[in-house]
Amino acid sequence: MKTLKDLVVVVTGASSGIGLATARQFSQQGAKVALIARAPDKLETLAAAMRAAGGTVLPVPLDVTAEPDVAAAFAKVEAELGPVDILVNAAGVGFATDLSRCSLADFRRIFDTNVTGVFLCTRAVVGGMRARKSGHVINISSIAGKTANPNAPLYCASKAALNSYTSGLQQQAAADRVRISTVSPASTDTAYWDGRQVDRSKFLTAEEVATVVLFVAQQPDGVLIKDVDLAALR
Ligand SMILES: NC(=O)c1ccc[n+]([C@@H]2O[C@H](COP(=O)([O-])OP(=O)(O)OC[C@H]3O[C@@H](n4cnc5c(N)ncnc54)[C@H](OP(=O)(O)O)[C@@H]3O)[C@@H](O)[C@H]2O)c1
Repeated sequence: MKTLKDLVVVVTGASSGIGLATARQFSQQGAKVALIARAPDKLETLAAAMRAAGGTVLPVPLDVTAEPDVAAAFAKVEAELGPVDILVNAAGVGFATDLSRCSLADFRRIFDTNVTGVFLCTRAVVGGMRARKSGHVINISSIAGKTANPNAPLYCASKAALNSYTSGLQQQAAADRVRISTVSPASTDTAYWDGRQVDRSKFLTAEEVATVVLFVAQQPDGVLIKDVDLAALR
């Protein structure tokens, strides 16, 4: 397995759930980790705890949907930590939508975060990766991107769009030995489900999903794991 020590890793959605577990596991493996999410105080607290455990951690408050801010945030990461080796796009939102009543604002919120945000963050790093002939972008999609469900159809559509975007970029970037991967979890016990009447006891855990993200990142440079579907066995 490839070592992650001293690699520069950016994780979006790093203040909660899958992104947080992923950032922690990369840090435990010795990577230099930039934490991206919107809430600055939360990021500072998490970064302090990870530093206390020996990590090199940079909190970078950012709304991934804000184009000029994305460019500035990634410039800060590169200036302070160095060129980005791995980007994990975990920031995402989802909520139940009745398609006959859904507002355009809700539509935009889902697509802006789950698709535009990934596009902007990936664009900020993938050119440099291709020039260096090295790098890895791992997008957290969902099994809902492959099979739509009636509860959150806009979320499903956004993840299907993400999958198609990822597949196209994967084929473009392969020419420069840059890896683009998708990890598609089934239901995972995170704040995503807060306020919903669901039994989470048989869900994946964020730590389990993070373990797979690191497995994808640790493959030898000549090996690309394109897409992983995750289900829980409970
Ligand atoms: N939980 C599941 O069942 C499940 C299953 C399959 C796939 N997924 C996917 O896994 C990813 C992580 O979800 P999760 O379950 O870990 O959810 P979560 O615990 O709610 O975490 C979502 C993260 O995204 C960040 N975020 C949201 N909007 C953002 C924005 N505009 N800019 C920057 N950061 C933003 C949040 O931080 P701030 O609010 O502070 O910005 C938070 O850190 C998502 O892409 C989700 O679609 C989740």
